Amino acid sequence: MTGGREVIAFTLNGRAVEALADPLARLSDLLRDTLGLTGTKTGCNAGDCGACTVRLDGRQVCACLTPAARAQGGDVATVEGLARGGRLSALQAAFLRHGAAQCGFCTPGMLMAADDLLARDPAPTEARVQDALGGVLCRCTGYRKIIEAVLDLAGTAEAGPGAVGASLAKTDGAAKLTGQDRFGADAMPDGPCLTVRAVRSPHAHARFELGDFAPVLAAHPGLVCVLTAADVPGRNLYGIYPAGKDQPVLAEFRARHRGEPVCALVGDAAALDAIKDRDLPITWHALPEVTFANALTEPDLHPHAPGNVLCQGRVARQGPARAAAAAAGIETATGFVEHAYIEPEAGFARRVGDRIEITASTQTPYMDRDEIAPILGIPPEAVRIVPTAVGGGFGGKLDLSVQPLTAIAAWKLRRPVRMVYTRTESMAATTKRHPARIKASAEADAQGRLTRFRFHGDYDTGAYASWGPTVANRVPVHATGPYQVPDVLCTTTAIHTNGPPSGAFRGFGVPQAAIAGEALMDMLAAQLGLDPLEIRRRNALRPGSATATGQVLDEGAALPECLDAIEPRWLALKARAASFNATAPAHLRQGAGIACMWYGIGNTSLSNPSEMVIGITPAGRATLFSGAVDIGQGSNTVMTQIAAEALGVPPGQIDLVTGDTDLTRDAGKTSASRQTFVSGNAVRIAARALRAEILRRANQGPDATVRVAGGTIQAGTATLDPAAMPRDAQGLVLRGEGRYDPPTTPLDEDGQGSPYASYAFAAQAALVEVDIELGTVRCLRIAAAHDVGRAINPQQVEGQIHGGIAQGLGLALMEEFVPGRTCNLHDYLIPTIGDVPPIDTILIERPDPLGPYGAKGVGEPALVATAPAILNAIAAASGVRMTQVPVTPSRLLAALRP
Ligand code: FES
Repeated sequence: MTGGREVIAFTLNGRAVEALADPLARLSDLLRDTLGLTGTKTGCNAGDCGACTVRLDGRQVCACLTPAARAQGGDVATVEGLARGGRLSALQAAFLRHGAAQCGFCTPGMLMAADDLLARDPAPTEARVQDALGGVLCRCTGYRKIIEAVLDLAGTAEAGPGAVGASLAKTDGAAKLTGQDRFGADAMPDGPCLTVRAVRSPHAHARFELGDFAPVLAAHPGLVCVLTAADVPGRNLYGIYPAGKDQPVLAEFRARHRGEPVCALVGDAAALDAIKDRDLPITWHALPEVTFANALTEPDLHPHAPGNVLCQGRVARQGPARAAAAAAGIETATGFVEHAYIEPEAGFARRVGDRIEITASTQTPYMDRDEIAPILGIPPEAVRIVPTAVGGGFGGKLDLSVQPLTAIAAWKLRRPVRMVYTRTESMAATTKRHPARIKASAEADAQGRLTRFRFHGDYDTGAYASWGPTVANRVPVHATGPYQVPDVLCTTTAIHTNGPPSGAFRGFGVPQAAIAGEALMDMLAAQLGLDPLEIRRRNALRPGSATATGQVLDEGAALPECLDAIEPRWLALKARAASFNATAPAHLRQGAGIACMWYGIGNTSLSNPSEMVIGITPAGRATLFSGAVDIGQGSNTVMTQIAAEALGVPPGQIDLVTGDTDLTRDAGKTSASRQTFVSGNAVRIAARALRAEILRRANQGPDATVRVAGGTIQAGTATLDPAAMPRDAQGLVLRGEGRYDPPTTPLDEDGQGSPYASYAFAAQAALVEVDIELGTVRCLRIAAAHDVGRAINPQQVEGQIHGGIAQGLGLALMEEFVPGRTCNLHDYLIPTIGDVPPIDTILIERPDPLGPYGAKGVGEPALVATAPAILNAIAAASGVRMTQVPVTPSRLLAALRP
């Protein structure tokens, strides 16, 4: 034993290893930090997420809860040991074939849990798979493709080899399946590195004073410095909008939400671990909390938001008056929802001369660059952002997290500095889905055609602006749902509170609105004696329809086709519920519900361009330089497929350089379901330009075949030698550039205009079973018909739909973040592998006139209709219309027994 540490000797992936470690250290830390096997991920260090699952002596264990001493003399298997001789194992190959890894952060844990199962049961049932993998959480996939993969080890189907329209296996899939992908906490600078830890407010609202830190520094030699607001070299404010820079990197005198950083400790990781917040010289004076209930009458939290109103949105449109035969009204409420990506925020920064380089998990490298520059007081060009693999984002990694503190510390100390959020910190300090209070009403004529729609939504935007204006502006456009309504008034108010900042989360406020709107559709249908699907069909937006903003839709609007496609499933689900109810015990009731959605792709009436470059290297490789960050949704693969299609080569002939702001142009943020549509168009334009240039140089006609392989370019009958061609400043011998900005128009004061160039539509149906005595709800099946324009990669599109549905199910039935109370993954529940039912996915492919090869986005559309469909199904099953989510057993029981 050496200084409390001892030699741990064990077999690791079939090889004998020895490591000097604290016997009580986590096995995950031993594997990752001491032995450098970062394929084992840590998402919570509490045994809740299962990302760190490895096999110890043949059995799956959470490595984060297993002391290193348990490995002594034992046999440890990690994801790095699954592939043999450079070949994926059958299990890994099945995951790749089925698209079972999206971001890939949970994947090592899933694989090891499945490996454990298959060692004992080579031909498991679905129930056995769900049981064995039940301890590993996935936030991306909705689990169904993981189950398919484990049940299909012997499958031989090959992923499609082609470009657009083929289910090409993820181009970065092998790295995710072998543990080689580098996420935020896996990326480390060369040489020694300091750690920064934020000290955060334990109060929702408080004034504070910082005392003298000299005694703390003296008592902890490994503590190098303490950063306060005074150490921010430039502007101690940031925020999404140019006029909304209201969030300090480090609060000054006043903390406005639990988890807000007030100072930061920089030093050796072990030294920081030894320092307790209670030992720091911080004096707190708690202030009255501004809540969603009292915000409009409490003192202002910000001078720029009188009455605590950040901003308001409005869409108003008057049409011909028609007599109403039915009218319905509803008030709904939703709470904070946490992104709960399995990868906590992480990264590092280092100073290189007068530049700062930040390597971190992010959805938006260029926005990070442009935010960090004023914080450091340096030009944007002096900031380099290098995105790591992103272990899920869903909007939560659009806002800054580790970037400013690591950058400030590295800038000041001229030493590399890293930061990894704990799970608690990740949940306490980062943005959430906006809680919403909605009041809405609708009227319809005797034929069931909507005549009037009224909507007001208060959205709790929390302590800082973040994406509050985006939500306030997007919601009124979408609030009617995807229906034709002649007389509309939809308004929103974004309200500041002492809650965590509410930001971007898959749907930007639209899912909350859809819960109210889709309930109204069912209520009107019931009054008029119409089937819920039929009333939606009669009102569905379609080509030539005018939306509430007066925009006339083009031929890409395919909601009627979605409804036609889902109708057989809808009828089958209703019949199944009726049949069950005829014979089941009275306390068990099944019901089917349906809901529709629409979603504008990209920013609302704002420019959101993407720029791409593709070129030929002297070595004769076609290389796409893409700033579109893949957060698991698959843009690396989709961009490659589009480039291949446009260039006229197989995807395997395209290399990809992604994300790095020094190497790629600004492709905008990965959000608003925009990358396929916006960046995909930029890629198509760039690759077409490169193809034209190749053909021009080769003096070939437009239809000539192109081949970029073996160090040469073959164009028709000509051969070009890249090695002999002059290079440009980027080192390319030929290049094509593309830029695309969706055509939109500003909205006037009544919200009239064309806010989006493309809209996605969908219809989803859900079957649920309600236990009337227990108040529990089980979702038994979902059918989802989505208008995707053109599926560039059908398997990935399906994966997005599955993942969105799982998150919608969580929103409906279990997810509610309570600040200070649910900052972990055992108190905050997200769907497990046992919660997501079979999903029937139908892709409606009517090409969008502006989309690349007709494609639209699907990331957010996948989620929006799920919660409303489940709530409508609960109403059908139980007779009770739930107006608050999540529908917990206590809430449902209270409604059933008023
Ligand atoms: Fe499972 Fe992302 S693929 S968490």
